Amino acid sequence: MTRHATIRKAVFPVAGLGTRFLPATKAQPKEMLPLVDKPIIQYGVEEALASGVDNIILVTGRGKNAIEDHFDVNIELETFLEARGKTAQLEEIRKISNLINFSYVRQGEPLGLGHAVLVTQGLIGHEPFAVILGDDVIDANPPALRQMIAVYEELQGPVIAVERVPTEEVSAYGILDAEPIRPGVHRIVDLVEKPAVAEAPSNLAIIGRYVLTPDIFPELEATQSDRTGEIQLTNGLRSLLQKRPLYALEIDGVRHDTGNKLGFLRAVVYFALRRPDLAGPFREYLSSIDLENKLKLR
Ligand code: G1P
Repeated sequence: MTRHATIRKAVFPVAGLGTRFLPATKAQPKEMLPLVDKPIIQYGVEEALASGVDNIILVTGRGKNAIEDHFDVNIELETFLEARGKTAQLEEIRKISNLINFSYVRQGEPLGLGHAVLVTQGLIGHEPFAVILGDDVIDANPPALRQMIAVYEELQGPVIAVERVPTEEVSAYGILDAEPIRPGVHRIVDLVEKPAVAEAPSNLAIIGRYVLTPDIFPELEATQSDRTGEIQLTNGLRSLLQKRPLYALEIDGVRHDTGNKLGFLRAVVYFALRRPDLAGPFREYLSSIDLENKLKLR
């Protein structure tokens, strides 16, 4: 397989508590909730791999051991599947542990996305890197991160993935003021974390993918926590913007925000309908639902 040398490492912040999915996330990480039969985090890891990344750095916290186990070898399960001759399943689970190199670093305190990135400084060193927020699952070809790396290589500066969102949703995102360079590619003029609708400079929202350069670290070190007590990556990028140009790319693909319940449900339906083994009967089931008379679900 051809490897891409420019971006070799991807950071996945996974220390969040997942309170929006309680009680499901009381004793398991939200990143392990499945879309059909694959945990949410695995979609992001496979995207990184398909984009040429070969080192995954997970920023974890308490109660996230299931993620480490998921990407580790499970000898007991492999022996069991082998003895039963279940070759396809065996291949599938071996593929997961062979995926890539994993490192883990603990965030310690929940001090925000900027802080999560900052704790990876020792593992990243002096090279450009990606940050992937696993909640945002993006179905795209080429993969979303691969699209961003191409723009990073062309423009030689940090690239942030963005999407236009309905105006009433801007206060859930980092929002950009930006000037178009060409369709889909922008030069960033300013960034603001979760603005009020009336104060948003546009509806270009940051979605969970960043290609960053190591000069973000001193900016994050100098970034004060905001009124929620968190160090925002958006604010670190805002100071970096005083020193170098930053770019934004509208991803060509379909994004699902699996971090909220409706987005999660949509993603499950979307990925089920893309599965050759399930699409037929599932489509049949969906079209049999009488949406006008919800109590008569069959
Ligand atoms: C984070 C970022 C925000 C970005 C969002 C994308 O917010 O702080 O700028 O728009 O991810 O998912 P969070 O969703 O973690 O509150």
